[in-house]
Amino acid sequence: MKTEYLSMKEIERAAGWIQKGETVAFQTETVYGLGADATNKKAVQKIYQAKGRPSDNPLIIHVARRAQVLEYCEDISPQAKMLMDAFWPGPLTLILKAQKNKLAIPVTAGLDTVGIRFPATEAAQKLIRLAGVPLAAPSANTSGRPSPTTAHHVLHDLDGKIAAVLDSGPAQVGLESTIVDLTAGSVPVILRPGGISREAVEEVVGPVSVSKPDLQKSDIAKAPGMKYKHYAPDEDLFIVDGPEEDWREKILDLKDEGQQVGIIANEDLTAELGSIIQASYSLGRKGDAESAASRLFDALRHFEKTGVTVILAEAYPETGLGLAYMNRLDKAADHRYL
Ligand code: TXA
Ligand code: MG
Repeated sequence: MKTEYLSMKEIERAAGWIQKGETVAFQTETVYGLGADATNKKAVQKIYQAKGRPSDNPLIIHVARRAQVLEYCEDISPQAKMLMDAFWPGPLTLILKAQKNKLAIPVTAGLDTVGIRFPATEAAQKLIRLAGVPLAAPSANTSGRPSPTTAHHVLHDLDGKIAAVLDSGPAQVGLESTIVDLTAGSVPVILRPGGISREAVEEVVGPVSVSKPDLQKSDIAKAPGMKYKHYAPDEDLFIVDGPEEDWREKILDLKDEGQQVGIIANEDLTAELGSIIQASYSLGRKGDAESAASRLFDALRHFEKTGVTVILAEAYPETGLGLAYMNRLDKAADHRYL
């Protein structure tokens, strides 16, 4: 299949592909998604095929009107409504009880619940409205690779495997939505930290619990996707969670072993260490977790043609978007620290 590269002017063509049961990658505020008609079984299966995604890992559906929630979900609690009021359209996915007969079976992968979200970008909203159906959409990367924040990332992974990519520039938040499960009891559970901070969720619904990454590794994972290998770059990646003074010594040790070192760190550190490393990617101003979160996935794809063999990445405090940043980085590094 030849993948069409489309601009926003050609969005009707993109919607046409969806209506014909094909897959189209589109920009959301979090990352690029790979969309298909959530009510068409064959179309949804094409998402799994293109990504090489395990079939037990359910998809999120994307809507462009609040009323569509009533069509595809039930038992919508007051807490769910408060979260929609506060954060939709935006980077928040709610897990609710599904009206399963309305959705293609592979969307929910056999669960009684479904993840639903109302994305904030014009590209996403227009595409959903023009197609006239909700879009099932995971991140538009090959399973296991860093999620795509640009159309270029999408093509790198999926060129020739999807009908089209609709390019409307880089995704702003840069990592995926926060997933809140409202079906687990009276206390909402954050299954995946993301673009809306835990603190912001708690301001709206009070205390929440956060599902532990270790639990997510087991077979009884609440968000099934969390147990798989994720976000891994081709190079060896380690997290550095120590004083900046230690970086130099760690880098020199690696070089003694014959490694070519790359670093992902704040702009002061990348500048300071520039002379002893092979390549670097700046996360922005020191301590700015929002900036770090928005750049992480691009950073993880950055070293491909640089000759780097080992990447060191800076740890951030787990507050605000730092929680989501560390969640992704920890998975990408397979929990390895140096
Ligand atoms: O920001 C995002 O959420 C992006 C954009 C494209 O919207 N989408 C995204 O989808 O990250 P994906 O498929 O890459 O990640 C969705 C996660 C997976 O870990 C999946 O297992 C989990 O959500 N999930 C989906 N449906 C679920 C359900 N009913 N219960 C629990 N977890 C669910
Ligand atoms: Mg994904």
